[in-house]
Amino acid sequence: MALTFNVEKFSNIRTPFYFYDTNILRETLAVINAETKKYDNYFVHYAVKANANLKVLKVINEAGLGIDCVSGGEIEQVLAAGFPADKIVFAGVGKSDWEIELGLDKGIFCFNVESIPELEVINEIAGKKGKVATVCFRINPNVGAHTHANITTGLAENKFGIAMEDMEKFILLAKTLKNIQFKGLHFHIGSQILEMDDFVALSNRINELQDKLDESGLSIEIINVGGGLGIDYDDPMGNPIPNFADYFATYNKYLKLRPGQSVHFELGRSVVGQCGALITKVNYVKEGSVKKFAIVDAGMTDLIRPALYDAHHKTINLSSSEAEETYDVVGPICESSDVFDKGIKLAKTKRGDLIAMLSAGAYGEIMASGYNCRKLPVGYTSDELY
Ligand code: LLP
Repeated sequence: MALTFNVEKFSNIRTPFYFYDTNILRETLAVINAETKKYDNYFVHYAVKANANLKVLKVINEAGLGIDCVSGGEIEQVLAAGFPADKIVFAGVGKSDWEIELGLDKGIFCFNVESIPELEVINEIAGKKGKVATVCFRINPNVGAHTHANITTGLAENKFGIAMEDMEKFILLAKTLKNIQFKGLHFHIGSQILEMDDFVALSNRINELQDKLDESGLSIEIINVGGGLGIDYDDPMGNPIPNFADYFATYNKYLKLRPGQSVHFELGRSVVGQCGALITKVNYVKEGSVKKFAIVDAGMTDLIRPALYDAHHKTINLSSSEAEETYDVVGPICESSDVFDKGIKLAKTKRGDLIAMLSAGAYGEIMASGYNCRKLPVGYTSDELY
């Protein structure tokens, strides 16, 4: 199974736009469900920060996944897509009062709390409403991940989470607060992680922390290990479904659970990354003195990952099958970082050709901006186009 592009249909749509192949998405979701079903107590919450397109969300909701939000706006968006409030986990290092109120009013499953001041504010707001907030503590496990420095989150130097040494003290404090029900621990070590050893390291760390809790007579119900499973950016057509089997089996093998505990996952990129592509049109082919530029109508405003993280999205020419030539693929924005890729091979490219940038379903459309007064790209699914 690989992404299918209907170039004839695409040629009537204003570019640039995002295209989502729902066959790939549904197959990905089916694999996730089949793999998690092997274990009694595994629950996946889709991390909506990766892609909040309503049409994509509806497909994910149909598959029955829970959801991970990091803002009030995301909570509103997932409720609009039909997700039940009691499957929402709400993380974020700086939740505003209105966002906490929204979470409480809607009756979300759990707040992932990152500091004591936040815990106290949640307790106070819940108290005013006569409600009890269910919380997990996000613990910073000080586990590094083999990924880009900007997307590791689990090191002591990062802004996220509560220090391990404070864990027991804070749990005891939480237990004294009337409008807080403490349920468990939350972790997240980073994104685009392909080495299962990183998840083994997290599991080992959680095991150590659970041993400490046992010694103190503290018990927890929920272990949320966050997200982070990576995708194959080099070969998206050959390898469209991430290795969920290995991922869940790794946790099953290494994470030691106590009776009655459930494990929660917050997967974003691995759910939606490979089903999406940015479709853009070639405005000009410019012969520079030393290289050839394919100047496309998408820019860093539509897909910022190359400019921000030096990310590479495999790029193909959908309109040409002529012999390959070497191009720098660049956008029209007035920034020298508005470069998608340098020195890449593309089938001989001319003005008007349609280009697809693959593996763009995650952190693509959602990170688009209106810089240069550009229109935000629209996202279409294969369900509506084909
Ligand atoms: N849970 C938490 C607490 C997170 O911070 C994140 C992602 C996730 C779950 C989902 O991680 P995933 O399964 O997608 O790896 N914009 C960057 C990625 C930022 C990820 C931020 N946190 C990119 O384009 O690569």
